[in-house]
Amino acid sequence: MLVSEIPALRDHWYPVAYADAVTTEPLPVRIFGERHVVWRPAAGAPPVAATDRCPHRAARLSQGWVDGGTLVCPYHGWRYDADGRCTEIPAAEPGVPVPPRACLRTDAAGERYGLVWICVGDPSSGIPDLGEADAEGYTLIHEMMEVWSASAPRIVDNALDVSHVAFVHRGSVGSATNPRLSDYTVERDGTRLRFEVSYVAAVPELQKRNTGITSDLTSRSTEAELVEPLVFRGKLTYHENGLEHVLYKTATPIDDDTTLFCQFIARNDDPSPDRWDDISAMDRQVQAEDKALLEEIESDLPTDVTSEVHIKADRMTLEYRRILGELAERPAGAPGGAPAEEPVAVRVG
Ligand code: FES
Ligand SMILES: [Fe+2]
Repeated sequence: MLVSEIPALRDHWYPVAYADAVTTEPLPVRIFGERHVVWRPAAGAPPVAATDRCPHRAARLSQGWVDGGTLVCPYHGWRYDADGRCTEIPAAEPGVPVPPRACLRTDAAGERYGLVWICVGDPSSGIPDLGEADAEGYTLIHEMMEVWSASAPRIVDNALDVSHVAFVHRGSVGSATNPRLSDYTVERDGTRLRFEVSYVAAVPELQKRNTGITSDLTSRSTEAELVEPLVFRGKLTYHENGLEHVLYKTATPIDDDTTLFCQFIARNDDPSPDRWDDISAMDRQVQAEDKALLEEIESDLPTDVTSEVHIKADRMTLEYRRILGELAERPAGAPGGAPAEEPVAVRVG
């Protein structure tokens, strides 16, 4: 299943840039294979997003500029306000009203967790709640935002797949001699998934400094959650000292084969800013290992669950395939959540 085969993915929110990268200078972004533009009508104003195409003669609005709170098209100077309404047509005769169809196709846009998020479909809810990411007692640290040549569902599938850690990350936090996970149960609520599992992880030198753990191997648990179809939350808890390292991974589909991958974390140990680079460096190394693998995997993720081989440890990613298959059946703009005939929450496996 490719992103373009699941129109309902358009009804969700995706980060497109860091909040401080969205200014009064219009910024082009690509999502679902389309060109969009984000900007602020004034410094510090809420972000605005629209299809990056002027309704007059198709010029790219991202080549324009902001003046007096309006976005000015670079071709003939038509001006648009934050609601997408055209407020001025310089070449029009004085007193002639603006044609009603001279308006932009705006998108829902908002800011949270230091990111600008947009929804290019029909948002059924707000920007997702990510628990610790803006909770008291946790420090939010941004680690990366980069374009990967991998499909968004494959990236999230990898995040949900804990049994890969021992192998893909054998050069960092994986322990290839400890490949087995504790037993776990997958809980499903509509398109959300959650499970909790423990396993043995390796602790390289940098990770010892980052976590305060002194042994070469440690037991840690992962509370993994599919928050939205392309948004993952994974809380790592180190049993030895209670440290919580909560990972957030978002996969914004640029197109079927390309993704804007964003990762940020929340920590409960109040790390001083001079430690942030080391903490991020470890996570970036782990992500580089995933990226190398994912960029070589085909974009098409099968949702026919009989077409692949599954073992007991794959229950989370098996359920993810079912969710994507169900989403593909749903037209864009349809109400979210579980199909009506299903119970609200089910336990799988
Ligand atoms: S194309 Fe934008 S004003 Fe003409
Ligand atoms: Fe990984």
